[in-house]
Amino acid sequence: MSPRARREVLADLVGAGASAAAPADKPAERQTAVVALPAEEVEEAGLRPRTLDEFVGQAQLVEHLGIVLEAARGRSQPADHLLFAGPPGLGKTSLAGIVAAEMGVGLRVTSGPVLARAGDLAALLTDLQEGDVLFIDEIHRLHRSVEEVLYPAMEDAKLDIVIGKGPTARSIRLDLPHFTLVGATTRWGMVAGPLRDRFGFVGRLDLYEPIELRAIIERSARILGVTLDREGATRIAERSRGTPRIANRLLRRVRDFVEVRGDGAITGETAVEGLELFGVDELGLDKVDRAILDALCRRFSGSPVGLTTLAQCIGEETDTIEDAYEPYLLQQGLLQRTPRGRVATARAWAHVGLVPAEPPLF
Ligand SMILES: Nc1ncnc2c1ncn2[C@@H]1O[C@H](COP(=O)(O)OP(=O)(O)O)[C@@H](O)[C@H]1O
Ligand SMILES: [Mg+2]
Repeated sequence: MSPRARREVLADLVGAGASAAAPADKPAERQTAVVALPAEEVEEAGLRPRTLDEFVGQAQLVEHLGIVLEAARGRSQPADHLLFAGPPGLGKTSLAGIVAAEMGVGLRVTSGPVLARAGDLAALLTDLQEGDVLFIDEIHRLHRSVEEVLYPAMEDAKLDIVIGKGPTARSIRLDLPHFTLVGATTRWGMVAGPLRDRFGFVGRLDLYEPIELRAIIERSARILGVTLDREGATRIAERSRGTPRIANRLLRRVRDFVEVRGDGAITGETAVEGLELFGVDELGLDKVDRAILDALCRRFSGSPVGLTTLAQCIGEETDTIEDAYEPYLLQQGLLQRTPRGRVATARAWAHVGLVPAEPPLF
């Protein structure tokens, strides 16, 4: 059945009271099902690696993924479903694009919270071409009812639709094109077990080493036409919190700085000056990181602090702290998670410029 024919069948079924909602034939509905690229990502789009060769770092993941894709290509089959997990800005979305490019297939992009109803997903699935990659970002935030549509689609390329209600309800199965689901999550632990089990490959992304970030910065500088020496790239890399997205952002801010205050060339010295001007310190900590450490050391004088209290104290969401800030603070040995709450380490006290509080006497 062609995608159009399938859509028409679906539309009929929905008219007849199918529980899957209408397919997104109307443009307005289509827009809600496919995530619009936020402004930052549009700007970043030119810096995204397009092939596995261009993807810097994550050597083991890249090697494994390369084998999975090459084997699938050899068999002329769509690749198995892939899940990428890790903190924001490490390259999950880029990898989804790379998978589609390496397989020479189309890419459809959506995200967990956008797929509010089972019908939103059904509409996307029936609109895929054979072999396409469907990328679902933040897949841990899929609604349960949407997840249930995904299971038979992932396993058997089938779409189950229930027609009617109550005792006369019956279910029919439609064939879907074979596709590769690529999921991304910042919360590995929050992906439902049955969903996790249906991925044939799980790639975990770790924070990048400064030397890898330096390579990413040098590549971005070439693309952006920025003059940058080794020292300059190293200084920016050291302060990028292990995250390529941040590395690219800092590179752009330092470029602004040297264009306005210097001769347009980034050196070790001008990079440090620029970064300091923008409030990025030598560990790469920004205002929020420093607010977290400050709260732990000063406000709570070193006692363990619960995540919710900490979040309220610095005016951030608990999710943001856990996903975006803690991984780096933990990796740098600045913060510890204990059963009683978050605590600052000796290194954090030194960084804040304070002497650790005496341990409580009772
Ligand atoms: N391994 C990498 N090599 C080069 N650039 C990268 C790499 N990973 C990420 N980037 C850069 O960082 C940006 C953010 O990556 P993205 O894939 O959007 O991360 P995520 O989806 O994990 O939040 C991309 O636009 C890209 O420029
Ligand atoms: Mg992303």
